[in-house]
Amino acid sequence: MKTENSSGDNQVEASSTGPGRDDGGDSGDGKRHRIQRAVFSNKLAFVLAASASAIGLGNLWRFPALAAKYGGGAFIVVYIILVATFGFTLMVAQIALGRKTGLSAIGAYRHFGKRYAFIGVLESLVPFIILPYYCVIGGWILKYCSVFMAGQQQAASDGGGFFTGFISAPHEPLVWTTAFVVLSLAIVFIGVKNGIERLNRVFMPLLLVLTLFVGLYSLTIPGALDGLAFYLIPHLEDFNIATVVAAMGQMFFSLSLAMGIMVTYGSYMRREDDLTHSVGHIEVFDTVIALLAGFMIIPAVFALSGAAGAEQAGPGLMFVTLPQVFVTTPIAQVLGIAFFVLVLFAALTSAISLSEAAVSVVIDRFGLARRKAVVVVALVVAALAVLPTLGFSTLSWLAVPVGPVNMGILDFMDFLSNSVLMPLVALFICLMVGWWVGVGFVKEEVELDGKSRFRREGLFRVMIRYVAPVFLVVILVSSILNALGLISL
Ligand code: ALA
Repeated sequence: MKTENSSGDNQVEASSTGPGRDDGGDSGDGKRHRIQRAVFSNKLAFVLAASASAIGLGNLWRFPALAAKYGGGAFIVVYIILVATFGFTLMVAQIALGRKTGLSAIGAYRHFGKRYAFIGVLESLVPFIILPYYCVIGGWILKYCSVFMAGQQQAASDGGGFFTGFISAPHEPLVWTTAFVVLSLAIVFIGVKNGIERLNRVFMPLLLVLTLFVGLYSLTIPGALDGLAFYLIPHLEDFNIATVVAAMGQMFFSLSLAMGIMVTYGSYMRREDDLTHSVGHIEVFDTVIALLAGFMIIPAVFALSGAAGAEQAGPGLMFVTLPQVFVTTPIAQVLGIAFFVLVLFAALTSAISLSEAAVSVVIDRFGLARRKAVVVVALVVAALAVLPTLGFSTLSWLAVPVGPVNMGILDFMDFLSNSVLMPLVALFICLMVGWWVGVGFVKEEVELDGKSRFRREGLFRVMIRYVAPVFLVVILVSSILNALGLISL
């Protein structure tokens, strides 16, 4: 039923309270309305789960390199402002959508009217595209954990031959990808409380401790303090519009926005928990780990190969350059194990949240019981992950022409999800919440506990109606033009 609320926004009242809740949603019986929904035990469990989702490869192998490339401290300041405004707005909107409807992305938008269902369909595709290639990289991380544990750090630090040899082998990477798919989905199989919550309670503190250990140690490497200065002191000659575009794209991926995750986790959030406080905590955790990743990586890499090395991101940084840095220290094996285990924790908890989002879509859409849905998602993801895994060996001929380049499968999946689908979904979310449905339901969700006030309501309204849509069009257009080779970011 459509109603007019006190603030003048059109909004739709829920015709029911949505599906019931329990842990794990195991009681699916083929009828959507009778599925019991999972619920996080308390606010801390929700904040930990959402932070564990947010903290991932984006923080570790992308943030430090972007900061080095786009102005050091200047990039960091822009990034923090964007997180507190744009990131805050989209995360609050997504969690409110989930909690209001008690549904994952596939149903949450449709709840407000059939014409919004397409947003949920588009958003539900995102975890199915990201997860397969995230599991390929997760497999590489597992392999490097095993390499350092077996004391093979000298072999792994040969400047690239070892890594290239590994990913271009026909069978071994498939085994590691499959192992990572099984690990991620096994936790989701166990359930939200017994699996995801319990794992995060152990992994997140360990991740922080390991990050501090590697970060502090890397500052003792000769030459590292020059790298620290390069990371933190603004170098304004590298600061331009590309800085802002890069910071926006990074923030988006890092906060797990428009991937179906925050809507799903919102649907498991208790109604008595404070929504905006929780978002604040998630943003602080995610940003602190991104900053610490810079302390861990930039000084060490700068000491080895100067500014050009510090601007390196992705697999080259993680699997080629960092092992070379580690072997220059007297504790190469310990450092390598600590580093790859912490990366594994970060990647695994993000993959788990992507898996949970995908599983929740299958449960809500097809009415499957949780465990059946997990098996379906595991099979689909494992099958899709064969393509990017073998994209470096047997299927290396398979490339997608995008502008002047032929993109490999992994890069194409990354481009499709990060540069096209996610900004597009976020743009439609802004239009739906800001203009079509109205922000009334978000305010209700924020103030649902009866104690909280929506203090940043003014900011939220301006961001969701005007600023965020403009930003999103800029991200969407510039990343597509960049991929087509028409501009260079
Ligand atoms: N937010 C997750 C990351 O940063 C997906 O990797």
